[in-house]
Order: sequence, then structure tokens, then C-alpha cells
Amino acid sequence: MADNYLEKRYEETLGANKPKVKRIGHTVDELLLKNRSTRGYKKAYVVSRHELERIAGVCTRIPSARNQQVLRFRLVTKESGADLVLSLVKMGAALPELHLPFPGTEPEAFIIVCSTVAENPMVDIDLGIAAQSMLLKAVEMGLNGLIVEAFNRDRLREALSLPYPPLMVIAIGKSAETIALTPIDQGESQAYYRRDGIHYVPKVRFEQLTI
Ligand SMILES: Cc1cc2nc3c(=O)[nH]c(=O)nc-3n(C[C@H](O)[C@H](O)[C@H](O)COP(=O)(O)O)c2cc1C
Repeated sequence: MADNYLEKRYEETLGANKPKVKRIGHTVDELLLKNRSTRGYKKAYVVSRHELERIAGVCTRIPSARNQQVLRFRLVTKESGADLVLSLVKMGAALPELHLPFPGTEPEAFIIVCSTVAENPMVDIDLGIAAQSMLLKAVEMGLNGLIVEAFNRDRLREALSLPYPPLMVIAIGKSAETIALTPIDQGESQAYYRRDGIHYVPKVRFEQLTI
């Protein structure tokens, strides 16, 4: 029900009745719907360094304030320190009783985003654009991810000998979760929750986003 609602809204907004043109691959809306923050991954699928390179590679084609391109990326696989990164990040703080990720579903690949200059609002905008672009690329490749800001910056920098301060950790892997969007009214709880094994993410209705 939840996903359908948003798909219908997208169609109404974007014009489902327009003549269809043949397209190859995914639409942006399909990628956006599949791009859910994922906190459980299939261990059987091992993300390779090459896949992380393809994902981070989108950052050669994204906007950047004053085109300064200050972001740098450390790609971390199982062999190059994923367990260490995992020990320094916190996932799913809104559901503390679950202690996510569940044992056996931990992410084993990460992209750590650093900045060559001190963090400022423009760097943070670049960071957001880079993060979402990489996540959409991951989804296009059949993977999913999670932006993590709850991590120990000092210890991560030291442990991985990062030459610049880390601003964000992005987990990447093959999703083991079922996630659904669910529409809410402004003022209702926006906290994500789990019921019967499904992770629900409330999103404010489009009608209430326009002002
Ligand atoms: C800037 C930013 C920081 C985030 N930090 C964390 C984090 O530290 N841990 C976590 O589990 N999720 C984190 N998330 C994921 C959000 O919880 C998630 O985007 C939100 O619940 C909505 O779910 P959705 O991404 O599937 O729409 C972060 C997301 C963003 C955009």
C-alpha cells in the first residue's frame, strides 16, 4: 500500500498519461524508490573494490560549489578494513532495542567521504549531492546503501590513516531487508519503525510539501 501511494503520486505529478517512450534501464523515480537506507545485508554477496570504484566514480560527474571538488573517497572492502569501520559506526539509532545490524547481516563494504578543506555549508551541500549520487548508482547496480553520520571521526581517521577528516561513511551491500515507504501527514511521527519484519519509513505527503 505504502509504495503504491507514492508511485501513484509520482505518476500524477509527472504525467502517467503522456505517450510512453521506449526507455532503457531505470527511471530516476524507480531508483529513488529502491534507494532506501539499508541496515541489513546479505553476507553471501561480497562487494568488490571494482564495484565501489564504479559507485564513487559518479563523483566525477556531479555539481560542486565553485567547482572546487574538495571531496575525497576511501574505498573499504572486507580485505581492507571493513570490520574496523563497522566497529566505529552506529546504525539505526532510532531503534536502539534492535541493535542493528542483526548478526550475520553486517555491511562489509564502505565508502568514506573526506574533505580536503574544513567543513562548511558548501562542502556539506557537495557532500549531500555526492552521497545521493553514489547511492543511486549503487541501486542501479542492484545494491543498496546507508549514509552514516554517527561514527567516531577521530578514531576512524587514525585507524585508516586518512589524510583528511572523514565527513561521512556510506555502507554498501546487497540488501537483506524489506523496506516500505508509508505516507504521513505533517506533524505525525517521522520515526522509522519495524512491524512483522518490514522496515517502514514515513514520508510526508507531497501535498503538504508544497508551500
Ligand atoms: C545526513 C544523513 C545522516 C544519516 N546518518 C545515519 C546514521 O548515522 N545511522 C543510520 O542508521 N542512518 C542514518 N541516516 C539514514 C536516515 O535514518 C534515513 O535516511 C531515514 O531514516 C529515512 O529513510 P530512507 O533513507 O530510506 O528514506 C542518515 C541519513 C542522512 C541523510
